[in-house]
Amino acid sequence: MRKVRVEAPASSANLGPGFDVFGLALDVAYDVVEVEVVNERRRGIEYFEVYGKHRDDVPRDSRNIVYRLAEKILEMFNRDITIGIRLEKNVRPRSGLGSSGASSAAITSALLTLLNVNVEPIRAVEIAALGEELVTGSRHADNVAPSMLGGFVVIRRYDPLDLVRLEPPNNLGVVIVIPKVEVPEEKTKYARSVLPEHASLRDVIHNVGHASYVAIGFALKNINLIARGMNDVIVEPRRMSLIPGGEKARRRALEAGALATAISGAGPSLLAIYDRESGDDVGHIIGKAMIEGFNEEGVDAEYYVTRPSAGPRVSILS
Ligand code: HSE
Repeated sequence: MRKVRVEAPASSANLGPGFDVFGLALDVAYDVVEVEVVNERRRGIEYFEVYGKHRDDVPRDSRNIVYRLAEKILEMFNRDITIGIRLEKNVRPRSGLGSSGASSAAITSALLTLLNVNVEPIRAVEIAALGEELVTGSRHADNVAPSMLGGFVVIRRYDPLDLVRLEPPNNLGVVIVIPKVEVPEEKTKYARSVLPEHASLRDVIHNVGHASYVAIGFALKNINLIARGMNDVIVEPRRMSLIPGGEKARRRALEAGALATAISGAGPSLLAIYDRESGDDVGHIIGKAMIEGFNEEGVDAEYYVTRPSAGPRVSILS
């Protein structure tokens, strides 16, 4: 094997009450990585090229997460090969769609395939999570795990990592709305810094009950249970105040037929879920209503109607 291509999906973390616990892979965009072996004499990266819709929104040199993680993985498996990497950056950074998770998943899957190392899926997620740590400074895996495994992921604990992957219901429709607002450079770090150190027992009970409904809803493939569970009283109230127009957009989504909404990851995107069996145009109606909600507060936004992703697509090119 000389050359491998991997497309790894965007994702939405938290889904309301599952802060750092839930993640859903989304078909909305994929980061694409192509890695080839250039020679087998010494360890290194001969070239690193960045293309794609968001090429100008990420570092195009050794500071890029893909580059840094590739170096780490070669070192980890002690492989003296020189590789070349092409990244097609399609997941918008700093939007709440797991951009660094998608990049980390893509390079991890590509290199593990190319190096022909057989690791358990959970170990592969742990390796990809190192990339997330490099960028955000925290070890949450609720974006990399769905980007690596597809579907819906529940993370029970981090040290050691333990998780369960579930296949989402077929009729789960997702609308993503990305507001055009100023976002700090280290967005996730900032959005974590506004969170409370402690939560009251009453709020914890609320979140545990609701998170359980989300997980049970995915296990039973019942979107109404998922929707009833998507309510968070600990993290979202703090973060919503960072998203101008967010509260209005959320209200408009529910009026337009969404079953539930959440801040996607650390924001500023919002996510709404709906029943795909209720009609093809429902997602668009919800998306447009949410944009109007943002517009009422003077904020421009764009929407995408999407669905869960089955995970990375790996092709062996030569
Ligand atoms: N669970 C993380 C957070 C996801 O909400 O901070 C960040 O993408």
